[in-house]
Amino acid sequence: MFSFPRNIHRTCLHSLLRRSLAFQADIYRPRRAILYVPGNDERKIRKAAATDVDSVVLDCEDGVAMNRKNEARSTISRSLSAYDFGRSERIVRINAYDSGSAVADLQAVLASASPPDAVILPKVEDAEQVNWINSQMLSLLGHTLPLICLIEMPLALLNLRTICEAGKTGNGQLSGLIFGADDFAAFLGAVRSPSATEVLVARQTVVMHAKAYGLQAIDIVDINYKNLESLKHAAEEGRKIGYTGKQVIHPDQVPIVQQAFSPSEEEVEWAKKLITAFEEHQKSGKGAFAFEGQMVDMPLMRLAQNIMQLMRVTQ
Ligand code: COA
Ligand code: MG
Repeated sequence: MFSFPRNIHRTCLHSLLRRSLAFQADIYRPRRAILYVPGNDERKIRKAAATDVDSVVLDCEDGVAMNRKNEARSTISRSLSAYDFGRSERIVRINAYDSGSAVADLQAVLASASPPDAVILPKVEDAEQVNWINSQMLSLLGHTLPLICLIEMPLALLNLRTICEAGKTGNGQLSGLIFGADDFAAFLGAVRSPSATEVLVARQTVVMHAKAYGLQAIDIVDINYKNLESLKHAAEEGRKIGYTGKQVIHPDQVPIVQQAFSPSEEEVEWAKKLITAFEEHQKSGKGAFAFEGQMVDMPLMRLAQNIMQLMRVTQ
């Protein structure tokens, strides 16, 4: 039976427990905020490279006009090697499998002198598309890159399990799922609302699959980029339902979102104390012990270690 420490709010612990599942991978790269940049806009790419953000997404897809696709590919390919992105992960979002542009996107960006660190495949519908992109990366690059699937088609919701399984078989390096609420609502014929209740079931289904398969779960975009108060609320809400990060579209959104997905001082303090107590009890031969009035054993120790790991990689 899992035991919650008294000095941490129960909701907060639930959120930490869910988040901890994303740390089962040996190597964890935080993606608290992923910042989209239109791939043909070199000024914005320069700005994004200089922004202290976990991940920059150089976009070939919907942030780029149809008549600028070629320009985006070549600008991205060049920028990947021309600019220093600092600590930021460099992700490229290619066009969808059946867009007619996906192969050209992959050819251009994987041929860069400095290929991206990860790739987003938008509008994924089924496992075949995941197998397809992995085999494309293998033949163009000799290995796969970490893959993030953008779940925004109703059919993808029905196929989530097989999409996750395909992403993790063979050479596949599926590392995250993104929920794309705006496209999802549009394909559904739903109307977006500030409360996002029209996409709640899908939002929770995506996060549940992500956690079941040890993947990061990246939450919806807040397109009202000038309203930072509502962004803070939305980011905290996403974290409460288990998301580990959020898509953003403007540099001003980055610090708020990264803060919302970082462990609080209270959480870090609790984790430090618990780890010290756990180690002392292990030495004296006790696997389970009382900590601040409640029982602690290995699961809570793992939870505490996850908080410390998140603190180290995000500070
Ligand atoms: N990445 C990097 N820099 C960005 C940026 C982004 N996503 N959005 C804005 N900036 C830069 C601007 O270029 C500007 O820099 P400058 O002062 O050096 O010129 C600065 O931040 C302030 O920008 P601002 O004037 O507030 O916004 P804007 O009118 O230039 O752009 C958007 C507004 C919405 C068009 C822009 O934020 C954008 O293109 N976002 C990404 C859209 C996208 O990729 N959509 C697809 C994925 S959902
Ligand atoms: Mg989309």
